Amino acid sequence: MTSRSAAARIDELRRLIDDANHRYYVLDEPQLPDAEYDRLLRELESLEQANPALRDSNSPTARVGSAPSGRFAPVQHATPMLSLANAFSESEVRDFVGRIERETGDASPAFSVEPKLDGLAISLRYEAGAFVQGATRGDGATGEDVSANLRTIRTLPLRLRGQAPEVLEVRGEVYMPKAAFERYNAWARDNGQRTLANPRNGAAGSLRQLDARITAQRPLAVYVYALGEVRFAKAAGPLPPTHSQTLAWLRELGFPVSPEVDVARGVDGLLAYFARIGAVRNALPYDIDGVVYKLDRYDQQRAMGFVSRAPRWALAHKYPAQEEMTTVESIEVNVGRTGAVTPWVRMTPVQVGGVVVSRATLHNADQVARLDVRVGDSIIVRRAGDVIPEVVRVIEERRPVDKRGRPLHAAYQLPGICPDCGSAIEREDGEVVARCTGGLVCPAQRKQALFHFASRRAMDIDGLGERFIDALVELGYVRSVADLYRLTVDDFVAMKRRADELSDSVPQTVKGGKVATRWAENLVGAIDRSRKTTLERLLFALGIRDVGESTAKALARHFGSLAPIMAADEDILTSVPDIGPIVAAHIAHFFAEPHNLVAIGELVDAGVHWPEGAPQRASDGPLAGQTVVLTGGLESMSREAASARLEALGAKVSGSVSKKTSFVVAGEAAGTKLAKAQELGVEVWDEARLLAFLAGHAH
Ligand code: IVH
Repeated sequence: MTSRSAAARIDELRRLIDDANHRYYVLDEPQLPDAEYDRLLRELESLEQANPALRDSNSPTARVGSAPSGRFAPVQHATPMLSLANAFSESEVRDFVGRIERETGDASPAFSVEPKLDGLAISLRYEAGAFVQGATRGDGATGEDVSANLRTIRTLPLRLRGQAPEVLEVRGEVYMPKAAFERYNAWARDNGQRTLANPRNGAAGSLRQLDARITAQRPLAVYVYALGEVRFAKAAGPLPPTHSQTLAWLRELGFPVSPEVDVARGVDGLLAYFARIGAVRNALPYDIDGVVYKLDRYDQQRAMGFVSRAPRWALAHKYPAQEEMTTVESIEVNVGRTGAVTPWVRMTPVQVGGVVVSRATLHNADQVARLDVRVGDSIIVRRAGDVIPEVVRVIEERRPVDKRGRPLHAAYQLPGICPDCGSAIEREDGEVVARCTGGLVCPAQRKQALFHFASRRAMDIDGLGERFIDALVELGYVRSVADLYRLTVDDFVAMKRRADELSDSVPQTVKGGKVATRWAENLVGAIDRSRKTTLERLLFALGIRDVGESTAKALARHFGSLAPIMAADEDILTSVPDIGPIVAAHIAHFFAEPHNLVAIGELVDAGVHWPEGAPQRASDGPLAGQTVVLTGGLESMSREAASARLEALGAKVSGSVSKKTSFVVAGEAAGTKLAKAQELGVEVWDEARLLAFLAGHAH
C-alpha cells in the first residue's frame, strides 16, 4: 500500500472506530458487531505500526473507550482503567506466551485464567473498608459516578470484611445474569413494559439510569477481577505477590469473584482452559465473550509493562462471534397464537457462535421499518444464548442495485391479509404488533392455541405434538380446545389414515393396524388425564394475551376460583399483585368475548375440572391484620374493586361493623353501618381518604 492510500485508509478507520466507540460507550447503541470492530481496530493497529509517521496521540488505538455522556458527575480514576489485547487464534496465544517466556526468562510462567465477562466495566472505591464511590470506565481516565446505582446491586459489598486497606480501588464487571434477564423480560412482557435486547444492554442500560430506584428493580450482579489504587495503613499490607492470590484476598474481603478463575501454565494449559470454559459457555449463568490470561506474578507483570492500549502481560482470547454476516433470501411472516404477525427472514445458512442458522426474527413491523431489511440485503445476525437469532442491522453499502444505482428491491411491507386465513391484518394505534383479525377462524392461530393448550406447562397432554395438531386442524377434526375431549380412538385412527393419504404430516413411525390403535389409545388416555387439572394451569392454557404462568398463578391465588376472575373488571384485576393495567385489560377483554365463554363452558361440559379454593391474599402489607367495612356507594370505583384493592394491601373486608372493625369506609348514602360505627367509636374514612391511601400504596 502506498503511504498515500495508507494515510487515507488510516483516516477512514479512525473515523469508523471513533463512531463505533461513541455508539457503544456513550449512546449504548452498538451498531458494529464486535468481530467487525476488532477487525477494524487490528487493521488500524497494523497500518499505524507499518507507518510510524502517521501515528497520532488522538487515534482510537491510543485510548480506551470514549468520553462519558455527561449525565453523571465525572470521576477521575486514580489509576487508568485499561483495555486488553485480543486474540482470536491459537497462534496468537502462542506468540503471547512466547514473548513472555523470552522477556521474563521464565520457562513456565504461571497465568491467572478467568472468564471474560460481557458486561460493563466499573471501578469501585473503598476507604477504610467502606464503599465510597463507583464509576464506569468512560474513556479510561475519566468515568461517570454511578455510586447510587451500584449500591443497589446485592452482590456488591458496602463494607469490607476483615482487615481492609486504607484505600482500595477494585475493578470488575457489572452484568445481568442470564436467568435474571429472562425473568425480567417475562415480567416486562406480562406488564406491557419494554423488553431488554440482551443481558449486556440490560446491564449497561440499568446502570446508567439516572433514577437508582429503576436500577434497583433490575437484577444486576458484579464480579471483580483487578485492582486500581491500593494504599495500606502503616502496619497493614503489603499486597500478595501474585494476581491469583489477590483474587483470593478480594474474596476474603467480601468481593464476588467468578468461581471459574484458575491458574494455568504454558500454551497447552491456557488452551485447555479456553476449551473447558468454551464447552460450558452456554450453561454458565452469565454471558462471556472469551477468557482472559493474566501473567500471575506482579514482578513479571512489571517487567512486561504496557503498550498504549493495554498491558503486555494480559491477553483476552475470544470465542467465535455470536454475530455474523449473511444474505436475505426472503422475508416471510408467522402468525402466532394471539394473531400476532411476526416478520422473519429466510437467509443463506451461516454459522453463528457454532450453530448453523437459516432464519432470524425481525420481531415486528417497527423493527422492519427501522432496519429497512430488503430481499438480497447483506445483514448482521446475532445469536445470544438460546434465544432465536435476530437481525441486528443491514449493511446498506452492499445493497444490490440496478444499472442506475437504484435498489433492486423496494422497502418491505407487511402483508395486509393473513397468509393462513385471508383475514385482514390490522395494527391498532399505539400498538407495536400487527395482528391477524381472524381469531380462531385462522388455522394458524387455532393450531398455535391448541399447541399451547396441550403443552406441558398448560394442560400437559402428553404426545399431542405440533404435527398431530396440524393434522387435526387441517382435516377439520378440531376447531376449539374442547373438541379435543370429544376425540375417540377411532377418530385418531381415521385421522391418521387420511393424513397418510394426503401427506406425511403424521410421523412415519406411527404405523397402521394394531400399532396405530395403541398410539391412539395412548393419546386418548393422555387427553383424559388432562381433564383433572388446576386453576392455574387452566388459566395459563386458555392463552389469554400476556397471561403467562406467573400471572396465571397470581390470579389463581388471589381469587381461588374461576367465577370471580371471569366477573372481575379491570379495577379489580389491577388489585392483584403484579398485574398492571394493560394485562388487566387483556384479561377482562378475554372474558368479555362470548366465544371464550362458550369455550370454557364446553371444557367444563367435557369434564375438565380443578379444585377451587379460598382466595389467598396478602397476609402482609400495610393493612395486614385490619378489618375494614365498606358501606354506601363510591363514586370512583365499585365496592368490589375497593374491596379487592384493600385486600391486596392485607386487609380483611367484612360485611358487618363490630368493635373489632378497624375502620369503616363510608360512601354516598351510607346508612345503618355508618351509624353503628359512630356508635361504637370506630374510625370512619370518606372516599377521598380512601383514594389518597390507595394512591399512596399503589404497587
Ligand atoms: S482485566 C488491566 N479481566 O474486558 C486489565 N477484564 O477488553 C484490565 N473484562 O475493560 C481488565 N472480564 O470490561 C479483565 N476477567 C476479566 C475481564 C475483563 C471482562 C472486560 C473489562 C475490560 C475489557 C477489556
